[in-house]
Amino acid sequence: MRENILEVKNLKAYYKILKGQVKAVDDLTFNIKKGEILGLAGESGCGKSTLASTLISRKPPLHHISGEVKLNGKEIMQIPEEDFKPMRLKNISLIPQYALDAFSPTKKIKTFIIDLVQEHGIKPDREFFDKVKERLYLVNLDPSVLERYSIELSGGMKQRVIMVISTILNPDFIIADEITSALDVSSQRFVATMLANLRDEGIIGSAMFITHDLSILYQIAERIMIMYAGCFIEIGPTEEIVKNPRHPYTKALIASLPQVGIQYQDKKLSGIKGTPPQLLNIGEGCRFRYRCQYADKQCEISPVRERINEGHYISCWRWKELGSDNNA
Ligand SMILES: Nc1ncnc2c1ncn2[C@@H]1O[C@H](COP(=O)(O)OP(=O)(O)OP(=O)(O)O)[C@@H](O)[C@H]1O
Ligand SMILES: [Mg+2]
Repeated sequence: MRENILEVKNLKAYYKILKGQVKAVDDLTFNIKKGEILGLAGESGCGKSTLASTLISRKPPLHHISGEVKLNGKEIMQIPEEDFKPMRLKNISLIPQYALDAFSPTKKIKTFIIDLVQEHGIKPDREFFDKVKERLYLVNLDPSVLERYSIELSGGMKQRVIMVISTILNPDFIIADEITSALDVSSQRFVATMLANLRDEGIIGSAMFITHDLSILYQIAERIMIMYAGCFIEIGPTEEIVKNPRHPYTKALIASLPQVGIQYQDKKLSGIKGTPPQLLNIGEGCRFRYRCQYADKQCEISPVRERINEGHYISCWRWKELGSDNNA
């Protein structure tokens, strides 16, 4: 069995604000294997980016509440910032959501890179830029982009520059947060496959790929995890999540994206009625119950994570009786 690069156990991270606590990551348990790409999906506001921030840089009002995270076997929630800083970019790296906005229109790409890596304590010397150039070729960019201004580059080109920088130290684990959402369809595919190529080349170890687009995950992720309103819903091998989803929410999500699975082609776009609940001071119970047609009294108690089969886990009281039909 492959070893894990990341082990997350009962992780809770909340935003502590004046009105109370926004429970955006509430009891997540999952692992990522060495060399694996795990896809993370769920509706807007379900806590995907909060999970990413929790793993890499918790800044107030976001606080780690409880639970453990091990990176390469080492607990990282409790270690002081000065010990964690050298691990960023090298052991764990993040391509944040909206990273494209980080480029200043008045700076050349090269200057942007120099400023950024210096912040991480890396010397942008000749050797460094030789490596950058090598990597730019690898993502189909001519090194002359370094002398250009960001406004002269397309979104896809900027995204590839960001990918080169965030992977320059060959991170063991990278979190890619919505790196394709601002791009056109062909650039989306290109950028997503690029990440898989970097993994195949051994430049990155493992990745967590966050996106709304399950069809992209279908192409590049080995397993998919679904979140809803800060909670764990389901995790399993990609084929199984897409073709045999078991949680009513996963079923609805998949059914609303007919392009993902062949078996859903004849289905009408169903969408999911209603909106996710407010996470501020949210209480007990399955958070999907307000929108779930199968919800009953038991769902007022928070469901426990259960094993369906090897590698496939779910949090739903009624999964056994609902079976695997796809009529959610
Ligand atoms: N600084 C903050 N203070 C308080 N609440 C916050 C803060 N940032 C995010 N939240 C709340 O935390 C929840 C999760 O937000 P998050 O950005 O993690 O969602 P997401 O799944 O990444 O959404 P999207 O798909 O739109 O990127 C939301 O309810 C959001 O309103
Ligand atoms: Mg987000």
